[in-house]
Amino acid sequence: MSTIEEEFIATVSHELRTPLTSIRGFSQTLLNSWDRIKDDDKKKFIGIIEEQSNRLIHLVENILSVSKMNSGNQIFTEVNINNSIKKVIPIIENQYKTHRFKTELMPNLPTAFLDEDKFQQIMTNLIDNAAKYSEEGKTVTITTEIFENNICIKVKDEGVGIKEEDYDKLFKKFSRLENHLTSKTQGNGLGLYITKELVEKMNGKISFSSSANGTVFEVKFPLYNQEDALKCFQMS
Ligand SMILES: Nc1ncnc2c1ncn2[C@@H]1O[C@H](COP(=O)(O)OP(=O)(O)O)[C@@H](O)[C@H]1O
Ligand SMILES: [Mg+2]
Repeated sequence: MSTIEEEFIATVSHELRTPLTSIRGFSQTLLNSWDRIKDDDKKKFIGIIEEQSNRLIHLVENILSVSKMNSGNQIFTEVNINNSIKKVIPIIENQYKTHRFKTELMPNLPTAFLDEDKFQQIMTNLIDNAAKYSEEGKTVTITTEIFENNICIKVKDEGVGIKEEDYDKLFKKFSRLENHLTSKTQGNGLGLYITKELVEKMNGKISFSSSANGTVFEVKFPLYNQEDALKCFQMS
């Protein structure tokens, strides 16, 4: 096993143990002292158990993505990026009821040659972050366009922004940055690590720019069919 894998397992074990210990602790307290605990507290403890279970589910899903990602099987097909984005948004919308999700999708965007599941995972991670790291009621805007022989997808938020000194930590495994929303929200710091790996495995590039007014993440995939691109410009 490589040092990187060993490090990964060590971190994962720690990340798994924390919520599990908390679930076990609160379950034991409830079981052993049921009659002595006030109803309000019971509710609070069960709430914690639910929250920690959700944390575990996310973590396990992310860890599975990391291992699937490294196993290397990808199914490339022609993907209609706009449609794929339209499928992802309602799922996230459902979790962030007060945010607004806006799209500015280029009509007749050429298809891209991608693994659609993985593309959706990329979009889910970016749109989820955009909502998670901005206050309630803010707008998340997803745009698609062609620029210099690339299909460009942008996810823009009006959130807390990313400080310059944190730029190099952003895409690292298990790294969550310090801001007032990170401490209030759940996450395991794997999302952007997975996202970058997936983008690069599909020959894409990911970049971002950020200010105190918000952040834009941009994902680019090269056009694989120049004729399609020309057609697209003629039609729009
Ligand atoms: N759109 C964003 N605006 C501000 N901060 C962000 C944004 N996306 C990610 N971050 C910061 O980068 C960290 C890593 O993101 P990610 O890998 O998706 O982990 P997670 O969302 O699980 O914390 C987050 O914890 C957050 O602090
Ligand atoms: Mg995330």
